[in-house]
Amino acid sequence: MSAAFDLVIRNARVATAADCFESDIGIRDGVIQQLGLQLAKGDREIDAAGRVVTPGGVDAHCHLDQPMAPPVRMADDFETGTRAAACGGTTTVIPFAAQVKGQSLRAAVDDYHARARGKSHLDHAFHLIVSDPTPDVLERELPALIREGYTSFKIYMTYDDLKLNDGQILDVLEVARRHDAMAMIHAENADCIAWLTRRLEAAGRTAPRFHAHARPMLVEREATHRAIALAELIDVPILVVHVSGREAVEQIRWARSQGLKVFAETCPQYLFLTAEDLGIDDSYKGARCVCSPPPRDKQNQDVIWDGLNDGLFTVFSSDHAPFRFDAPEGKKPGGEEVAFRHIPNGIPGIETRLPLLYSEGVLAGRMTLNRFVELTSTGPAKAYGLHPRKGTIAVGSDADLVVWDEREFVLSNDMLHHAVDYTPYAGQTLRAWPGLTIARGEVVWDGRDFHPRAGRGRLLRCDAPSLLPRR
Ligand code: URP
Ligand code: ZN
Ligand code: ZN
Repeated sequence: MSAAFDLVIRNARVATAADCFESDIGIRDGVIQQLGLQLAKGDREIDAAGRVVTPGGVDAHCHLDQPMAPPVRMADDFETGTRAAACGGTTTVIPFAAQVKGQSLRAAVDDYHARARGKSHLDHAFHLIVSDPTPDVLERELPALIREGYTSFKIYMTYDDLKLNDGQILDVLEVARRHDAMAMIHAENADCIAWLTRRLEAAGRTAPRFHAHARPMLVEREATHRAIALAELIDVPILVVHVSGREAVEQIRWARSQGLKVFAETCPQYLFLTAEDLGIDDSYKGARCVCSPPPRDKQNQDVIWDGLNDGLFTVFSSDHAPFRFDAPEGKKPGGEEVAFRHIPNGIPGIETRLPLLYSEGVLAGRMTLNRFVELTSTGPAKAYGLHPRKGTIAVGSDADLVVWDEREFVLSNDMLHHAVDYTPYAGQTLRAWPGLTIARGEVVWDGRDFHPRAGRGRLLRCDAPSLLPRR
């Protein structure tokens, strides 16, 4: 007689965004079939007595194999990126399909599918990046893609090759409103950054640490306020990504006080790094932590912790943007130590996102376990139309789970599974790491070894985000 389940996890301390309870988890065909104690036997059994089990992480902001201007190249493709994600407890990723100016959105989507196909170990969806909102994109392509399940897109207010002007942003937000999509906004004032960069360069200030001087908080504050005003004009919710500190947070709190639907995301770099990590002198080592917006200071870290706890933030993502440090295709383009404006922006973090927040949030007593689950899994799944299939532990949901091992160790890059030659978090003491990552019922990481099956990840079709108002 065959067993009732393919896999049963026994005696788990299950944590969801709403509850904590003792339960067995019965899994068949990759789906949670039953929760409760003393479930019938499974073909395979795992005893999780005394251990916390959370939903697998949903990393809703990561960049994998995104084409860059040569010689720069991202270190992680879908194979290495999803391998690293799985070993750090993430079971779903939502990277970007970025439109290059002049390219059709459809061509961008097809290109990213080809990059993920046969390589992704994890289930994945795509956000679009809209960089060229032509009439055809606005009237035909974007609505059609939203209908097909690409229900979120990112727009940039900075970066010359990606940025939209205010009129273009209004056009794109109008499409989001009409077709029930979530617009994610990278809010930094491009002209201020360009002006400050020219001034710094004229003064010979080109070391990595000046990246932070070219992008002070006010450029983020101004753009965040402008994005909120544009969204108010269209009457559409927005989600402000990678919020770095107090000034942007204040704008979002103000918007909420006006009843506006403004959601927000933050990332590990704004809790665990400061501008000093970009260098206190002119050393090039700081290039490792060049990302935008840049990390701020300790007081701003506290503001971000407060926002994580009090509901300001809905999503905690990695913004994994992987470039090797000591490499001509990475932070030293062409093998040179270049001026800060030419350093590829972004840092790795797809594998360390959950263990950092579990260690310094949950186990350090800064955050409840429920809030941890909300920020790392349930919130992003809801924000991007994947809930309840993803982001929770419930009957009928995919069996995406993390069984946590609580033990103290010092993080080093050689423990990680990405293709990057550093982690900005090396030397950090962690108190926990996933002992098991289970993706649709399959053990993909057992605390020691990764169990590869490149191509096992499925493309997910996203519904209209459940955070959007029903019209
Ligand atoms: O510096 C960053 N954040 N790089 C990744 C691209 C982006 O804007 O998210
Ligand atoms: Zn961004
Ligand atoms: Zn990003």
